[in-house]
Parts: sequence; structure tokens; C-alpha cells
Amino acid sequence: MTLTPSTDVVTHAVRGKVLLVTIDHAPVNALSADVRRGLAAAIDAADADPSVEAVLIVGAGRNFIAGADIREFGKPPVPPSLPDVCNRIEACTKPVVAAIHGAALGGGLEVALAAHYRIALDGAKLGLPEVQLGLLPGAGGTQRTPRLIGAAAALDLILSGRHASAQEALALGLVDRVGSSDDLLAEGLAYTQELLAAHAPVRRTRDAAALADRAANLAAVVAARADTAKKSRGLFSPLKIVDAVEAAIEQPFDEGLRLERKLFLDCLDSPQRAGLIHAFFAEREVLKAPETRSAKPRALGAIGVVGGGTMGAGIAVAVLDAGLPVTMIERDDESLARGRAHIEKVYDGLIAKGRLSAARKAAVMARWSGSTSYDALTDADLVIEAVFEDLAVKQAVFAELDRVCKQGAVLATNTSYLDIDAIASSISRPADVIGLHFFSPANIMKLLEVVVPKQVSADVVATAFELAKTLRKTPVRAGVCDGFIGNRVLAVYRSAADAMMEDGASPYQIDAAVRAFGFPMGPFQVVDLAGGDIGWATRKRRAATRNPAARYVQISDRLCERGWFGQKTGCGFYLYPEGSRSGTADPEVEAIIDAERERAGITPRAFTDEEIVRRYMAAMINEGANVVHEGIALRPLDVDVTFLYGYGFPRYRGGPMKYADMVGLPRILADIREFAKEDPLFWQASPLLVDLVERGADFASLNQTV
Ligand code: 3HC
Ligand code: NAI
Repeated sequence: MTLTPSTDVVTHAVRGKVLLVTIDHAPVNALSADVRRGLAAAIDAADADPSVEAVLIVGAGRNFIAGADIREFGKPPVPPSLPDVCNRIEACTKPVVAAIHGAALGGGLEVALAAHYRIALDGAKLGLPEVQLGLLPGAGGTQRTPRLIGAAAALDLILSGRHASAQEALALGLVDRVGSSDDLLAEGLAYTQELLAAHAPVRRTRDAAALADRAANLAAVVAARADTAKKSRGLFSPLKIVDAVEAAIEQPFDEGLRLERKLFLDCLDSPQRAGLIHAFFAEREVLKAPETRSAKPRALGAIGVVGGGTMGAGIAVAVLDAGLPVTMIERDDESLARGRAHIEKVYDGLIAKGRLSAARKAAVMARWSGSTSYDALTDADLVIEAVFEDLAVKQAVFAELDRVCKQGAVLATNTSYLDIDAIASSISRPADVIGLHFFSPANIMKLLEVVVPKQVSADVVATAFELAKTLRKTPVRAGVCDGFIGNRVLAVYRSAADAMMEDGASPYQIDAAVRAFGFPMGPFQVVDLAGGDIGWATRKRRAATRNPAARYVQISDRLCERGWFGQKTGCGFYLYPEGSRSGTADPEVEAIIDAERERAGITPRAFTDEEIVRRYMAAMINEGANVVHEGIALRPLDVDVTFLYGYGFPRYRGGPMKYADMVGLPRILADIREFAKEDPLFWQASPLLVDLVERGADFASLNQTV
């Protein structure tokens, strides 16, 4: 056997009558230019070599092919294009077999579909996830998939971007066989030889017949179009996907390919693609905090949770769901029973929806234990404190943890705002103390701010990142300050929203403008959902230290004084008649706002939705820049991920800092300077923003790996 490199990353070797083509392009065999060239050359070699009767394509490492090389998007194209390579594979005069293990995603599946036969191993993941990157399958996927498995199944795969297992792929007809072992080469070669022995012909997907029933397939397109128009709020690529699949039914293959190419390029040019691909890389970059490289995580077995309220219970569910045991500590038996009940309520909800069995719940709850004595935590590897937001109460809890926990236990606090350095330095082992700021509901929200105090040891930080992985959370490393990354920035754009409200915009207009930007909720809906009393307590706590010269809008206080805390009290900024969760505008709130404007001597003015968004975003971006400038966030992308995963920032805009880059930093700075004419104390441009604009640089230039 001789190994011939088509390129460094694709080799081919003759194995009897089979040309074995191996893609070896770490980490995931993405289809970079070299891989595309190598594949085309390998097919040329197969056609040219009379001793070769069939071709087998495999991927080295853990995957077949993860897709097009996402890092190439937005750069000048390098030939050959992936559609050309797929067409070249399909046109091969000898049977081509793809043997799939691991990921065959996007362009990876498109390569497999261009082959004439497909075998997948157990554990394979097949899918067309381009929609999640703001794209559509651009190398024949929208044309070959429906021809192979019908429009309905193809639309489901392409619009959801989900991964199908090998078994499902077999049932759908995406693959012809599932291997019976995990020996990729043996399975692939045996299948290819079997095909040769049976004189299996070249069988091109472009000629497959699943679209023969035109009416039924068109009906699937009509249904998908209606559904997509409803669900894909603001997204560009999903309706293009439907158009492309419709073309597969209505047009000859080559015409359909041409339309697919055009639509793909339209998607590639869209800012949504840039935002979504930024999010893809950013959510991987946040995992690479310096301590994850310099230190090994400590063991994570038994977990303790102190406090069984909203957060303690949610955190306990997240931990139980990950398969770990939880010991919960509460103040007294009654509170402990409430804590347990909070947890059971989550599982009972799943049972009611048919998503969990009673037996499964019992098995999960068997890993839970509760106590009113800290001594139950002596074996815990990591304890998360989630008691009242009060420094003295928390320090008392940490004193107990210091007393009972074994050496090496990680001691974490879920505080939202408090000084974790002050908690750490109050006990004898400050190096073991860290912030783990979960978001509510903690079993659902993906964000975990890992708050790193001064004295913490690197392996404790590494352990926090490991915990995030175990809990399937997205960790972002943050420094200690009031509110860390997320809540600190939130406080500032909330102030900007309050100021607009007092100056003349109604909370309903502000919420609608923010929703139109892409957030699921506006700021006042968020207050009503979280409970107005939470922010009120914080404002009261800070009243003494607030800068008396800073503008302070009192409207929220007026509502809270009336006991209007939002959804839980039936009214807040909105009315929630009979426990309804979608609020309606409240004329009484508008009257209160009018009275407050009068009290403050403000003549209300009109705001356009565009101005509302400009102010809201400028406040968010400016404070995001401050957070990076002060080293609270490692990079702008850490701010982006915080907002994508914790605050409902629309993913297709990439996060506030990416959005700022796309708008252009000079424009953002000009806005801030304009707004500063009215309130120079609030609108102080971040030194980092000023510096970047002066240097003609952007936030992305600060996103390199740390
Ligand atoms: N292009 C470039 N780099 C990629 C990549 C791709 N398609 N897919 C993954 N990578 C990189 C990641 O950024 C990461 O890099 P890093 O180590 O520098 O951070 C590395 O490969 C490993 O990735 P993961 O950490 O995600 O590894 P996992 O083992 O957890 O997951 C995977 C592997 C399931 C393949 C996952 O990486 C994935 O889902 N990748 C994206 C798949 C995708 O969206 N494909 C469609 C691309 S668009 C397309 O094909 C267009 C076509 O239709 C024309
Ligand atoms: P909560 O009031 O719902 O629960 C607090 C629980 O702690 C109560 O059950 C109480 O009985 C218990 N507790 C109080 N002192 C205790 C002690 N000494 N020992 C044992 N248990 C004790 O409060 P919530 O909302 O769960 O908040 C807890 C912490 O989480 C706070 O620090 C808060 O800032 C933080 N947080 C809250 C978020 C939210 O949205 N509610 C989001 C993120 C963090």
C-alpha cells in the first residue's frame, strides 16, 4: 500500500481495489481549502487509476467532517468551492462510499450525501446545523437531502439544525447502513467490498426519487413556510432554507443548486451570520480562562448547597440533574422542607408534562439530603452558599463552612453583588473561596459567572470551570466588583431606560423597542418577572452611598411603595389580571409616571424607537467597555457571552461588544458624547472606547486568547 498525499491533510492509498481517502485535519476535519483540494484530487486519482474500482472516504480522529471551515467565512473565497468538490465526488465514475463516525455536520454531511453510499457507526451525529450560524446548507444540502429523504424530513433537519443519530439517519434514509462495530476502517472497507462484489452501480443522490410525490412534498414546504414565518423572529436564513427546498421540488437539480448558492451567499453577507459565528467562537473561547491551563481542577464528588430558596433550590436541581449528590443546609426544619419542596416542584412539573417518570424522580431525589446542621457538610468537595444577600449573614455562613468543611473543599458564594474578597478574608482559608454566580432559574439558565477574588488559588478557579462543564453551563470568568460583569452593566442600561421613561418614553414603548431589537423581553417586563422588590432592596441598601449629584429616577420606588412588585403581586409596570403572565399596559402606572415627571420638573418629549435603542445600547456598550478596561472581564467576548447566556441578548447580533463593532465604535462614541450634553455625569465615555476610536481599532482586536 502506498500513501499519496493529495494535500497534507488528505491522503489516499490503494487498498486492493479500493482507494481509501483519509481526511486528517485536526481538530475536527473542517473543510478548509487544503481539504477541498485534497478531496478533489483524490477523486481525480480514483477516476484515473484503472486498478481502482471504488472509493472510500473516512475522517481521522474523532469525527468524519465537522463542516465547512467556519474561520474562512467572511474572507475571500479560495477555490475549489465546496459545492464544486461535492459535485466532483458525485460525478466520480466509480462508486464512492462515505464511512461516518462522530460528527458529519453541515458541509461534512453534504460531502457524505455527494458520495454514492453511506455507512455510519454508532455514536455518529449527522446534521445540517448551518441555520445556527445564520446560514443554509450551501454545498448541495438543500437539494440532495430532500431528494434522498423527502421535503418534510429534510426541512425538519435543516430548519432545526439538530443532530440525528446513526439509527435515526438509517430510518430516515440518510445512510444505507449502520456499522456493527466501532472499527471504522474495517466497517467501511467491508461495506465497500460488499458493494463491489454485488456490482453495485454508481448511485447519485441528485437522481434519488424522494420528491416524486410533488404535491405531498410541496405541502410540507407550505406548512414549513407558515411555521417558520411565525417562529423565526427576526432571523434571515430560515425562510431562505424553505425557498431552497422548494426549488429542489420545482426545479432541475442544477438550477436548484444555483439558487442555493445565491441564497447561501446572501446569508453569508448578512450581519446575522457575523453575529452568530462570533457567538460560536466566543462561547468556546470563554472556556479557556488562564487558570484552566495553569492548574488542575480538584475532585468534584459531593456538593453542598446552603440555602434552599429560589437560587439554592435551582442550583440543587442543576447539580442533581448532572448526576451528583447534594446536601442542602437550611436554617430550620420548616425552611428545609420548603427547600425540598421547591426542588420537587421542578420535577413534578416535568412529570406533569410527561417528561419525567415518578420512578426517575425518586431516583434523583435519592441523591438529595438535607440538614439544619453544618456538620452534614464535612465530606463535601464543593459548597455553594445561596442565603440572603447580606454580607454579615454570608460571613456567618462562611465561618461555619470554615469550621466544618474538609481541607481542600471549595467554598463558593452565589452572591449577586457583595464583595467576595471581604467574604474570603473573613475566614482562615481565603484561597478556597470563589464566586459562582448562577442566574435564575438556576437549573435552566446557562450562564455561570465565575467570580475570581484576589486570594483564590488557581486550582479552585479551574474547579469552577470543571463544575460548569459538569452542569452544562457556560462559564464566564469575572472579577470582583459591584455586580461583576452582568449585573454591573445591567444597572447602567436600566438607569438609561429609567431616564428615558422619566423624559417621556412610556415603559411600554421602551420594552417594545427593546423587543424589536431582538431581546425576548424589555427591561420593565424583566423587573416585573424578577420581582420589583429585589431591585428596591438593592436601591435602599445603596441609598447612603449613591452620588447625590447623579440623576435618580424614583418611578420604580413609587410602584414598590404601593406593593406593586410585578407578576407575583398581579401588577407592577404591567397589570397581570388573574395570574396571567403576559401583562397589559396600566393607565395608573402612566399616571404615576406623569406625576413623577411633574415632580422632577420635566416636560416630557417624544422618543423614536430608534433613539431608545441607541441610548439603551450605548449605555450597555459603554459599561461593557469599562468592565473590560478594569479587567473585570478578560475580553470583550466575555461580556458578549455574559449577555447572550444570562440576559437574553439576541444571539444573531453576537453580543453587545460585537454589535458595537458592527455599528462602528466612532458612531457609539459620538452617541455617548451627544447624550452627555444632557447628563454629563451619567454619559462619561469609557477610556477604553475613546482609546479604541483614537487608534481606529475595535473590540475584536482585544479578543485574542488570554
Ligand atoms: N470550522 C472551523 N473550526 C471548527 C469547526 C468548523 N466547522 N467546528 C469546530 N471547530 C473548532 C472549534 O472552534 C474548536 O476550536 P478551538 O479548539 O480552537 O476552540 C475545535 O474545533 C473543537 O471544537 P469543539 O470544542 O466544539 O469540539 P467538540 O468535540 O465539543 O464538538 C463538533 C465537535 C460537534 C463538531 C462541534 O465543534 C460543532 O458543532 N462544530 C460546528 C459544526 C457546524 O456548525 N458545521 C456547519 C458549518 S457551516 C457549513 O458547513 C456550510 C456548508 O453548508 C457550506
Ligand atoms: P431566597 O430568599 O429565596 O432564599 C434564601 C434562603 O436562604 C432562604 O430559604 C433562607 O431560609 C436561607 N437562609 C438564610 N440564612 C441562612 C443561613 N444562615 N443558613 C442557611 N440558610 C439560610 O433568596 P434567593 O433569591 O435564593 O437568593 C439567594 C442568593 O442568591 C442571594 O445572595 C442573591 O443575591 C443570590 N442570587 C439571587 C438571584 C435571584 O434571581 N433571586 C440570582 C442570582 C443570585
